Amino acid sequence: MLNRFTADYLDTLANADFRPTPKVAGRLSSYDGLLMEAIGLTLPVGTVCRVGDQVEAEVIGFRNGRTILMNLGGPAPLLPKTCVRPVGPPGEAEVGEALLGRVVDGAGKPIDGLGPIRGADRWPLAGKLQGPLDRGRVLEPLDVGVRAINGLLTVGQGQRIGIMAGSGVGKSVLLGMMVRAAKADVVVIGLIGERSREVADFLDTKVAGEARARSVVVAVPANHSPVLRIRGALRTHAIAEAFRAQGKRVLLIMDSLTRVAHAGREIGLALGEPASARGYPPSAIAMLPNLIERAGADAHGTGSITAIYTVLADGDDGNDPVVDSARSILDGHIVLSRALAERGVYPAIDVGPSVSRVMTDIVPKGHQLAARQLRRHLATYEENRDLVLMGAYRAGADAAIDAAIAHHGAITDYVRQDHDEVVSLDTATAELVAVFGQ
Ligand SMILES: Nc1ncnc2c1ncn2[C@@H]1O[C@H](COP(=O)(O)OP(=O)(O)OP(=O)(O)O)[C@@H](O)[C@H]1O
Ligand SMILES: [Mg+2]
Repeated sequence: MLNRFTADYLDTLANADFRPTPKVAGRLSSYDGLLMEAIGLTLPVGTVCRVGDQVEAEVIGFRNGRTILMNLGGPAPLLPKTCVRPVGPPGEAEVGEALLGRVVDGAGKPIDGLGPIRGADRWPLAGKLQGPLDRGRVLEPLDVGVRAINGLLTVGQGQRIGIMAGSGVGKSVLLGMMVRAAKADVVVIGLIGERSREVADFLDTKVAGEARARSVVVAVPANHSPVLRIRGALRTHAIAEAFRAQGKRVLLIMDSLTRVAHAGREIGLALGEPASARGYPPSAIAMLPNLIERAGADAHGTGSITAIYTVLADGDDGNDPVVDSARSILDGHIVLSRALAERGVYPAIDVGPSVSRVMTDIVPKGHQLAARQLRRHLATYEENRDLVLMGAYRAGADAAIDAAIAHHGAITDYVRQDHDEVVSLDTATAELVAVFGQ
């Protein structure tokens, strides 16, 4: 009997963890398919909980002593008073080299069938708070392999730009061209709220081969919960930030920013926020600067995040609140025109209204002057287009219009580029200066 109290046995007793840790659990009090309310829980916003056996939900707020959660999965057969238990600490993302070549979903789980991700570092989903002076200036160009962008809307390392267009004008195809050709160390791609079919297509055609090894893809298609779509966007930024902290030149691509705002709209409305512009509650629009400001160059190191967001102009409306807000925060925007696409000019970049706000800092004078000259010809041509097409303009009446007409073909040729063709920054500049330089 007494030999139970051998030294070994006593050691085990001494080292055993007898401290009773309280297990927090609450009960489900309401559920309407998307929103849940639980009683008896005190948890920070962002905590992931398990409701019943399978369903996961995230705490998004609390009201009158009840915790409000949002369903992260599909429809679930839940019963009143189902047990709600916290399962994860709020907001950390897996980041680092271990993710290169991988595809994850909004919750960070691998969906490429290549097994679990081992050895990943962690980074706060919402990012680390940084001051304005932690952001470096944009001084170096980034070659994106698209002639019209390299030549006329040069992108800088650490710049944030938007591709704005209505649906089906070629945003995703243009992004794909840049993913393949961009001279970046790492490409982090967030496919948020797009069609599931397009995710597979994007992976097979645009992130294939050599590009795959230096890319990380976060894919959250449109049928996933709005909370997961927002998490996907945050995760994309967290992964990029961690690579930037290692001194890497990161290209962050997000298709599309509008779908993230849509997810914010769904959550805001479900929480009872008043809808303002176009049904967007204020929180959905306020979320965009928080996201976009996370990209940029690092003032203290060599790392940078150059970010490209697609922005869907709903109904081709350039004054949509998301388009407006994105345009005012981003450092440049590329406008695609349906009229050009209909004429078969791809990529359908409408040079006139597109701007790169950092271009004057990053390209030499000769390049700038040539780009300005091309824009002048284009504007003159557009102003007088109707006259010219009607035959009301007589050649020789105005030297500027004559020059604009003479150069119009060259301008269209300059913009036009096959989707599998790559034009380097040097070639794009040389071609531009040869035709439009003084
Ligand atoms: N460079 C290109 N060359 C040839 N065709 C193109 C090119 N870019 C776009 N297209 C055509 O336009 C179609 C729509 O392009 P894409 O899917 O990129 O549009 P989108 O703006 O991303 O649309 P959505 O808003 O629906 O996501 C393509 O299926 C293709 O037929
Ligand atoms: Mg698209």
